[in-house]
Amino acid sequence: TQPIILRNLAVPRFFGAAANTSWLYHDKNYTEVISTQFSIFTPENEMKWENIEPEPDSFDFGPADEIVQFAESVGAKMRGHNFMWGNQLPTWVNSSLTATELDKALQNHITTVMDHYRGKIYAWDVINEMISDNTPNETFKDNIWTQKFGEEAMPKALTYARAVDQQPKLYINDYGIEELGSKSDTLYSVVQGFLRDGVPVDAIGFQCHFTLGQVPGTLQQNLQRFADLGLDVAVTELDINLDGPGNATAFAQQAKDYWTVVNACMQTQRCVSVSVWGVSDDHSWIPNGEPLPWDAEKQPKPAFYAIADAFEGM
Ligand code: G3I
Repeated sequence: TQPIILRNLAVPRFFGAAANTSWLYHDKNYTEVISTQFSIFTPENEMKWENIEPEPDSFDFGPADEIVQFAESVGAKMRGHNFMWGNQLPTWVNSSLTATELDKALQNHITTVMDHYRGKIYAWDVINEMISDNTPNETFKDNIWTQKFGEEAMPKALTYARAVDQQPKLYINDYGIEELGSKSDTLYSVVQGFLRDGVPVDAIGFQCHFTLGQVPGTLQQNLQRFADLGLDVAVTELDINLDGPGNATAFAQQAKDYWTVVNACMQTQRCVSVSVWGVSDDHSWIPNGEPLPWDAEKQPKPAFYAIADAFEGM
């Protein structure tokens, strides 16, 4: 029998992963899985501001370039991650700049990075995690961007990005927006406002960091309402945290959960990709959560076969 290659089963969608230079080429079995199974990659940390522009106007593209070149070598696309986020900022950005200085820094950052990767990035997470967790009382997260720019923060980043390069899809990426509910309602009206006002946005990224057995029942319906605005949608950072012992029952439920998420994307015509946040359980951002489709030995778990079934419409 043929080996199962998820990137082939996913066509016309992309199946992706967060890639990480700590293990790429350093962990042989990781490198083998990542070289064969995916058609799109997101750098897990390498394009974040603190890494790519640690000092003002001083850029370190090395690690991010490594992932971009790797993606090219295996015929995969790239998602850029990210431009505007409250985390993983260098101190010089996250402290004492005036609003005018920060504005210049933001525009320079977006322009320099997008220029460097012109023609090589399918989609940019221009915005990451800017919607408040205290909706509807508050719309935006409290961070340096909203402190300095208020509600103009997101439009600024999106407008700068579009001005540099019209090709890449511009994403707003967030967590906690996967279900119908207050946070996704808030994002929905923010995006409606952007579309009305001509603020450039092409797509919404639904991170989908879920806990075992807790995939929201309204995921597909929610993806569809954003798609109905004329936007692409994507599952950008999928993982299912066991949050408990890794026994057969748990792995079976985890497989169901993966199936539900991939199937929700399959049922949504404008859903362009499903990306998992990592590859194997030993290299996940969630220690001991065993949240990924490959185990620490890089063997496929039940979740892997469930993803295959969902992409095959089974
Ligand atoms: O590279 C340094 C290393 O030099 C240092 O010795 C070590 C000590 O703590 O830290 C290392 O940096 C860590 C980095 O990952 C690389 O491993 C940071 O501390 C750690 O905070 C960072 O975590 C990342 C996290 O974002 C930061 O917020 C995770 O790897 C990454 O998976 C996670 O990804 C985010 C997405 O970007 C956005 N959505 C949520 C998702 C999960 O939190």
